[in-house]
Amino acid sequence: MTYGVSMGPEADPERWRSERRLFRRGPDTSFRKLQSIKFLLTRDRAAVGRFLRARYPLGLGVRDRLSLVRSFIGVTNAVRGYHTLAELLTVSDRVLRLAGRPGLTVVEAGAGSGSSTAKLSLVTEIAGGRLIVFDTFRGIPENDEQHHLLDGRPLRFARGAFRGRLGAVRRRVARHGAIGVCEFRKGLFEETLPQFDSLVDVALLDVDLLSSTRTCLRHLHPRLRTGGRIFSQDGHLRATHELLADEAFWRGFVGHEPPRIHGLDEAKLLEIEASPPGRVDA
Ligand SMILES: C[S@@+](CC[C@H](N)C(=O)[O-])C[C@H]1O[C@@H](n2cnc3c(N)ncnc32)[C@H](O)[C@@H]1O
Repeated sequence: MTYGVSMGPEADPERWRSERRLFRRGPDTSFRKLQSIKFLLTRDRAAVGRFLRARYPLGLGVRDRLSLVRSFIGVTNAVRGYHTLAELLTVSDRVLRLAGRPGLTVVEAGAGSGSSTAKLSLVTEIAGGRLIVFDTFRGIPENDEQHHLLDGRPLRFARGAFRGRLGAVRRRVARHGAIGVCEFRKGLFEETLPQFDSLVDVALLDVDLLSSTRTCLRHLHPRLRTGGRIFSQDGHLRATHELLADEAFWRGFVGHEPPRIHGLDEAKLLEIEASPPGRVDA
């Protein structure tokens, strides 16, 4: 069972339940901590290396970077999340490249239980910015979208999936992140984003529904400052790649020429550049 939808024999709910009884796997378990160490030494190792070697305008030392990585892993161990360490370090890298910029604004669309929010808040604080977090805080909204993963398996997102209540997310960020830099905007993106009138430096979208990605890009991409990026973590869905590759979507719905996009047709984390320099800078 993934995201409320059965996708094949390996997704048999009974098998999943009995395996869960044998091992406790959720937040604050030994299993979770061992998994984090395993991923650090394998899947995420190259990204950690790149992060430790990168150059940033604020000259963040190796000890501070290691401390940030350690904090990220601490959050992963304590709060349910739906991203990899490598993905969050890629986004953090962009935030730190823009550190010290006046009015630095980081946006998160799709907070889930608050794991990515806590991590983004930590890096935003180091960079001297603020983090604006958009979500229903009631999980995935009602929808009739039918999706396919890149390998063709079908998938749907059930209403209420990934629910993290606003109060619980705030408490987790207060405990594991930097709540002082966060502002929360509760409601459907379709209602909250049109009221958002700030320029944006970095945005992380993790929203699953295509309708949500469309809304986020329409309202956030034209606000992106030079050197800024929008990252989408929904590259596991075929529809996300098709949407981003659609020139008519950019010209007709977002309202400008298609930007440069890294990772089209292959990556889970897609990186969308700002429009040509000078368009939106204040
Ligand atoms: C996969 S979860 C985010 C997980 C989180 N980024 C993490 O890595 O732990 C997707 C989130 O998008 C939110 N979401 C999706 N569509 C939305 C919409 N139209 N308006 C507001 N929130 C939406 C859901 O409420 C859910 O919290």
